[in-house]
Amino acid sequence: MSKITNCLIKKDTSCIPVWFMRQAGRYLPEFREIRSKNPNFIKLCLNSDLSSEITLQPLDRFDLDAAIIFSDILMVPYGLGQTVEFIKGKGPKLSKFNMKVFLENKEDNFTKKLNPVYQAITKTRKKLSREKSLISFIGAPWTLIVYMMGLRQDKKKINLENIKKDFKRDVVLEKLNKFLCLHIKNQMNAGADVVQIFDSWAGIIPDNEINDYCFTPNKKLVDYCKEINLPVVCFPKGIGVNYKKFLEIVKPHGINIDYDIDPKWAKDNLKNVCLQGGMDPKILFEDEKKINLEVDKYLDNFRNTPYIFNLGHGLLPETNPDILAKIINRVKSYK
Ligand code: CP3
Repeated sequence: MSKITNCLIKKDTSCIPVWFMRQAGRYLPEFREIRSKNPNFIKLCLNSDLSSEITLQPLDRFDLDAAIIFSDILMVPYGLGQTVEFIKGKGPKLSKFNMKVFLENKEDNFTKKLNPVYQAITKTRKKLSREKSLISFIGAPWTLIVYMMGLRQDKKKINLENIKKDFKRDVVLEKLNKFLCLHIKNQMNAGADVVQIFDSWAGIIPDNEINDYCFTPNKKLVDYCKEINLPVVCFPKGIGVNYKKFLEIVKPHGINIDYDIDPKWAKDNLKNVCLQGGMDPKILFEDEKKINLEVDKYLDNFRNTPYIFNLGHGLLPETNPDILAKIINRVKSYK
């Protein structure tokens, strides 16, 4: 059993494993080099040799306890027939959502389209030692809907009435759930031993809709993971005190807290779960003294509770890799 699954399943507190969201990415010069020769991001994700190589790049540099497969949550909308482009400085752009096309999707075709992602997982697993986890991931239904239906332009609060007109909510959520379960299963069969569910836009759901769009869909996915014995970590970013309710309803093995959550509050309110992350990725731009204080704040706070060191969101492209190495060493030598 890897250190991370030990922490998630057995709630082991004897060591603090460490990995970082977006640990394979633009802050690494070796990634930027591959990326500069591969202008099409989706194609790069579908190149199993290169995505496996990128997945392992941070592990060649640092003493991390997990690799997270180099892919994207938007591979699922791609697999379901939307085109996905990444425009420099602007973020992702998807072709217009078409309900008919969406509902016609068949499982075989989806698995075939995303097969290179699964191959990349198998290739990576072969090169990874047993005590290291290989983390797979998906976007939660709500976060995928935000991208699939182009709701992201008007940041902050979203007027759900606007999308409801031509949107059969329960039909869309049900169909998404089916394909997300398939994507989880395919990734596990390929060699992943953990899955993380990113609900990056959960924080903009109005309170009266959070049950239908966040808690219930996440619970269905977590229940499925338990059924197939796959440890699962949820990350419902930005939901504030609703983290408590989320945990009571969804009950994943692990939960990643974001940088707005006070770690003390998390320790007192989020129980019987393995906690993960929390530190603001912007702290990595501060001087070493301040970084150490902040790292120790999380380590001290979560002493004797099952905890996986990570951040409150993904690593930023401006991060200095040497700083990351120092943080990892500090976590590893913490007593
Ligand atoms: O190392 C890892 O964590 C694995 C790789 C990974 C990527 N995306 C690669 C990527 C993971 C786990 C993701 C998840 C993801 N993708 C999320 C959930 C986490 C979060 O950030 O909230 C979301 C919302 C996306 C959607 C997405 N993909 C956006 C908004 C963007 C563009 C802006 C940005 O943040 O980079 C991407 C592109 C993307 N995904 C890149 C990488 C390395 C950058 C591509 C490039 O080189 O331009």
